[in-house]
Amino acid sequence: MRVLVTGGSGYVGSHAVRALHRAGHEPIILDNLSTGHRRLSTGFTLVEGDIADERKLAPLLEGVDAVLHFAALAYVGESVAEPRKYIRNNVECAIKLLDAVLASRVRIFVLSSTCAVYGVPAELPIRESSPREPINPYGATKLFLEQVLAAYAGAYGLRYAALRYFNAAGAHPDGSIGEIHRPETHLIPLALKAALGAAPPLRVFGSRLNTPDGSCIRDFVHVADLASAHVLALEYLQAGGPSTTLNLGTGQGASVAEVLAMVKSVSGREVPHELAEARPGDPPALIADPSLSRKVLGWEARYGLREIVSSAWEWERKLQNSDWLREAEMAGHPGI
Ligand SMILES: NC(=O)c1ccc[n+]([C@@H]2O[C@H](COP(=O)([O-])OP(=O)(O)OC[C@H]3O[C@@H](n4cnc5c(N)ncnc54)[C@H](O)[C@@H]3O)[C@@H](O)[C@H]2O)c1
Repeated sequence: MRVLVTGGSGYVGSHAVRALHRAGHEPIILDNLSTGHRRLSTGFTLVEGDIADERKLAPLLEGVDAVLHFAALAYVGESVAEPRKYIRNNVECAIKLLDAVLASRVRIFVLSSTCAVYGVPAELPIRESSPREPINPYGATKLFLEQVLAAYAGAYGLRYAALRYFNAAGAHPDGSIGEIHRPETHLIPLALKAALGAAPPLRVFGSRLNTPDGSCIRDFVHVADLASAHVLALEYLQAGGPSTTLNLGTGQGASVAEVLAMVKSVSGREVPHELAEARPGDPPALIADPSLSRKVLGWEARYGLREIVSSAWEWERKLQNSDWLREAEMAGHPGI
């Protein structure tokens, strides 16, 4: 299939682009490079532009069979401080994209959604039917988009998969690409940067939570596993599968303390860190029930925490010794 990949120059999208190519599909990236990196798209077709640019979208959509939609802003804290930016980009711009899709022949659409749609879960593991009560504008934008998709599917024959990722982490197993968020807010890259002395000591939010070791628990899912789930979702929809909403997680939680121990085991280095108060609204534990993804797509995470941390460690060392970060800075991305 020829597939338009919005946000394909970002972290998760760039891994999906490679997985698509490997599976024999043809990805075409549309990215405005607002948080993405041209170099993550090396070797693939990149159309520089915005998902709200209808004139650019119409000819692009004429030539494709499906859309994978990764393009969004995804900083929870920023979404609280600047909700308009999130509503504009993640909702208004996405609606323009969907209008262009409906004006075209394309009827297959895959959305990057998030476990942030669940807010603070009442039960673990979290099932797709668990209450969706986002506690920040970022999660609300994704939930709204899921609801728009459900309405458009009913009314206009769109078929979609909304994939709710838990905590994306790790880097491509071949070491060519990995995570570059500026600023970085995710635990594993921050821990690795701290271990390398490339960032201040890690701030560990919450150490007296109601979890076995008192620190937060998250379900870290390898970005390569997320990428393969997108290929499976696409092929499922192409084969006529009905619209679906699925969790993408491993079903296993890892605490912050366990992650730091894994960093030490993989890298041989301690992570300098300091304990801080738990952040208001930060759920003590988020763990997916991934059984529906297994049933619908036959998908299961292949990689565990060790592979996640070791691939991220290889990537982080490469990143710190490369000119990628300087290049990103020159391209106008905010500082670390
Ligand atoms: N990283 C995670 O842990 C995680 C977890 C759950 C969901 N997600 C979702 O996955 C998707 C990808 O996340 P990521 O971590 O790769 O983020 P990222 O910032 O690395 O990638 C997003 C990409 O979208 C592009 N983009 C943003 N707005 C655009 C627009 N209006 N037009 C064109 N391009 C635009 C950016 O330039 C960037 O390349 C997002 O939708 C995010 O909400 C990510």
